[in-house]
Amino acid sequence: MHLVKIDRAHRVHIESFGCQMNEYDTELVRSLLKARGFTFTEDRERADVVLMNTCAIRENAHTKVYSHLAELRAIKRQRHLVVGVLGCMAQNLKEELTETEPLVDVLAGPDSYRRLPDLLIQAIEAQEQGLKHRGMAVELSEYETYDDILPERTDGVNAWLAVMRGCDNFCSFCVVPYTRGRERSRDPQGIIRETEHLVAQGHKQVTLLGQNVNSYQFNAREGARLGAPGAGGCDWDFARLMTAVADVPGIERVRFTSPHPKDFPPALLDAVAGHPKICKHIHLPLQSGNDRILDVMGRSYTRNEYLAIVDDIRRRNPDIALTTDIICGFCSETDEEFMDTYRVVQDVGFHAAFVFKYSERKHTIAARKYPDDVPETVKTNRVNRLVDLQTGIAFRINQEMIGRTIATMVEGDAKRSSSQWKGRADNSLTVVWEKDGSRARPGDLVPISVSRASVTTLFGKELPA
Ligand code: SAH
Ligand code: SF4
Ligand code: F3S
Repeated sequence: MHLVKIDRAHRVHIESFGCQMNEYDTELVRSLLKARGFTFTEDRERADVVLMNTCAIRENAHTKVYSHLAELRAIKRQRHLVVGVLGCMAQNLKEELTETEPLVDVLAGPDSYRRLPDLLIQAIEAQEQGLKHRGMAVELSEYETYDDILPERTDGVNAWLAVMRGCDNFCSFCVVPYTRGRERSRDPQGIIRETEHLVAQGHKQVTLLGQNVNSYQFNAREGARLGAPGAGGCDWDFARLMTAVADVPGIERVRFTSPHPKDFPPALLDAVAGHPKICKHIHLPLQSGNDRILDVMGRSYTRNEYLAIVDDIRRRNPDIALTTDIICGFCSETDEEFMDTYRVVQDVGFHAAFVFKYSERKHTIAARKYPDDVPETVKTNRVNRLVDLQTGIAFRINQEMIGRTIATMVEGDAKRSSSQWKGRADNSLTVVWEKDGSRARPGDLVPISVSRASVTTLFGKELPA
């Protein structure tokens, strides 16, 4: 077989297959690789190195990666190509993935990206010499926050900014604590400096990220011990951090995801309700509306406690949009227990709900303790019933926006037509309007008078500012 030798430019094609934190990590990896002389290409066919930053949250996330690997196998038969699997699936499947997929040259988990450039260089050199080499870095860390690395962000209005990593909650269904390790928060001074840098780069919105973002906690004494410059000697919680970020001059909007319902003290609710730059949107994952299932899931709140937070939020500001995540068909869930979830969705009136079929994940508490005993057809049926219910609710909520004028941040061209702008309302709804006569630019805040609404989008007309 004739193999075309790769040149020395080491072009990397990197794709993200996971959540916002995974996208942020891809930007970190770009920065680490750029510092070592790698370049990047959007075109997989021209790449010397293909990296997939993977997700392990549900089985279909795995399936997607395996189908991409199958495509890469065909390319690798023709020429040299280094294939790297990064992220949560790499961390969770480790040896298993390298054994079943001989195609994979490098494996690096979320806490091991500093070692990636060396692993890739070793793999490239080995390939050039016709040797088989496999590099693996999957150690989890209690301290790694990549605080000193400025992510290589692709231009845009929004910037992701991870403020904490890992998760200590161990919800029984969830793989994240095993793929991302212990919870740890970044030094607030570093976060604020990074926000100032984002403003200088032209970003108008920052989205604070963490697997459990509202558990953010920076202990000044502990930080000093670890060599962080600290936070002026006092402890920081998420409300304080988010307010400080929102107060950075030039930042127009601050969002955050994903919070856990257990950590919503009054100061945080007040900050969201009251600070003009903090968006009026809270993603409040419900998972289930039944107390027995919530307990088996290890969610640490009851249905009534969840509803009390919803009331607290709406008492402070009735316009705050709520969105949620729900799992259908978790181990032993009966139809009556599912109906408790259905009724909570009916009662709360979420702007959007992301509804998932339970997918058993290796290593989790549920995989070890509870049989995955709800039949696939029943899971699908429950998902469909909830999606139908939510579609009606979202349509009704969006119809109520007709006639209102909403401050909208321009994000770029609409998907369907470059003669239309797409933007986002403060409450996170997507807004589309004709560019005709508009002098707006991405990042601008413009008033839009809403004239029409679908389940997912508001349509309107730009008014003079
Ligand atoms: N930290 C966030 C969740 C991140 S994962 C939180 O605590 O809410 C995003 C969503 O994926 C979860 O809210 C949950 O609804 C879903 N999810 C997680 N594990 C799952 C599994 N094993 N099967 C199906 N959905 C799952
Ligand atoms: Fe997973 Fe629960 Fe942690 Fe969210 S809080 S990442 S669902 S373990
Ligand atoms: Fe997936 Fe890991 Fe994010 S499992 S959802 S990429 S934290």
